[in-house]
Amino acid sequence: MTASKRIVLSSDHAAIELRQAVANHIAAKGWEVVDIGPKTPESTHYPIHGKAAAQAVASGDCQMGIILCGTGQGIMMAANKVPGIRCGVCSDAFSARMIREHNNANMLSIGARVVGEGQALDIVDAFLGAEFEGGRHATRVDMIEGQDG
Ligand code: RB5
Repeated sequence: MTASKRIVLSSDHAAIELRQAVANHIAAKGWEVVDIGPKTPESTHYPIHGKAAAQAVASGDCQMGIILCGTGQGIMMAANKVPGIRCGVCSDAFSARMIREHNNANMLSIGARVVGEGQALDIVDAFLGAEFEGGRHATRVDMIEGQDG
């Protein structure tokens, strides 16, 4: 992990409470949380929030991002449209660790209608506690990014 620990959070209306729980959890672990909302529970559109969080990571303003919607799927698809973003949806801690170690994911997506709070916080801890292994995995990540010639 880089010395700076700045992480962006966003969600749609389906995940506001879980986003707040994640924010509290990671702030207590020393992360500087940049929560870009939304703050109110009105129905909104997950692509807006997924792309905004992704841009905060892609620009270098934040080192990591965590995004949430009902399933985690739609907001992940939106985030992955931003160049340089590698975001996976996780419902288990093993996958969350592996998307860091093997895929060098810089964003994690969680479905608030899929996992409960305790499971979500375990997933977050696994994601943030893991490091990219590089080596053969770097070759493959370069292929994702189109840097393989
Ligand atoms: C909103 O109802 C829901 O579609 C959204 O939160 C998400 O699950 C989409 O992928």
